[in-house]
Amino acid sequence: MSEKRIVLALTGASGIPIGLRLAEELSEDFKLFTIVSDSAVKVMEEETDSKKEKMEKLESLSEEVYSEEEVEASVASGSFQTEGMIMCPCSMKTLSGLATGRSSNLIERAGDVCIKEGRKLVLVPRETPFSQIHLENMLKLSRVGADIVPPVLGFYFDPDGLGDVVDYTVGKVLERFEISKGLYDTWEGERSLV
Ligand SMILES: Cc1cc2nc3c(=O)[nH]c(=O)nc-3n(C[C@H](O)[C@H](O)[C@H](O)COP(=O)(O)O)c2cc1C
Repeated sequence: MSEKRIVLALTGASGIPIGLRLAEELSEDFKLFTIVSDSAVKVMEEETDSKKEKMEKLESLSEEVYSEEEVEASVASGSFQTEGMIMCPCSMKTLSGLATGRSSNLIERAGDVCIKEGRKLVLVPRETPFSQIHLENMLKLSRVGADIVPPVLGFYFDPDGLGDVVDYTVGKVLERFEISKGLYDTWEGERSLV
């Protein structure tokens, strides 16, 4: 088991199955510290067959699972060394909290720590359409070093169902940490048209 630590936050945007799948992959390469917002728990109820089972799965994959209220957790401090943080899915509310440095809960605080410490911060913002406010918040965060990796559809790798589409986004997030697991077929050049 790697000694490298990483923080994963699931917030209340649609796309909880992507965050859960990401947790599986991250746990193979990192000690995982997971934060689940109160709204994410509600969305988990809507988007998965069993909230209890999924929370237990997260517990088994993680060193710790925190609620957003636990602002005293290790990951709230810059002195707790990590490789960075991923917010997947990232709601527009949490995005705005990050963009303003609000730190009003453990997720926003842990993200703010990554920004101030110059650590990797990867956001998987999910909304459509994006308003100008959302786009401005993303631009602001991109300018301070965050990677913006929305769950955008791709067809060039010939996905065979939703699982492949989820893995495509998970693969794209992992690449931000220079981890390549072959979760989707990369483009190897144009196919002959004849
Ligand atoms: C079923 C469901 C789906 C939602 N999907 C989204 C979404 O895709 N994007 C978003 O920004 N908010 C979405 N929301 C609203 C957020 O949950 C809400 O703004 C919440 O306050 C976010 O809190 P958090 O960022 O602390 O998790 C959704 C809410 C529900 C109940």
